[in-house]
Amino acid sequence: MSINNCLIIDLPKITDPRGNLTFIEGGGRHVPFDIKRVYYLYDVPGGAERGGHGHKGLHQLIIAMSGSFDVVLDDGCEKKRFHLNRSYYGLYVCPMIWRELDNFSSGSVCMVLASNLYDEEDYYRDYDLFLKAARGKK
Ligand code: TYD
Repeated sequence: MSINNCLIIDLPKITDPRGNLTFIEGGGRHVPFDIKRVYYLYDVPGGAERGGHGHKGLHQLIIAMSGSFDVVLDDGCEKKRFHLNRSYYGLYVCPMIWRELDNFSSGSVCMVLASNLYDEEDYYRDYDLFLKAARGKK
């Protein structure tokens, strides 16, 4: 699993003078996995960082529903910083990627679609253990 598998997905956008609309359908139509869970981060204080972990098997799509923030992805060899600031762009993150979220604007909301239910066993919370596993798989 490499950082090159992680990409910005352009979601459908219905523009309308009354306000725009974006939708995301499961079944592999708009995201490359089945959506089993949705969670969101909000009321993030200035200067806070979230993430700081990797997932063994989880696929995710990260969307800035409001405001903006940065996502730094790291596959153990290469790092890339993405700035998310539109609710019609989603950042697809494949398994075995360490992620950190920072630079949250005030009032921002980060929504995450995930391919599985919450499972602490799926996390790497220790960067060195993540690195060993990620490099071992390459
Ligand atoms: P964590 O994934 O570490 O947050 P982040 O990566 O956004 O900084 O989760 C923080 C806490 O919330 C942790 O105790 C686990 C819990 N949690 C759930 O119970 N269910 C969930 O779906 C998520 C994402 C987290």
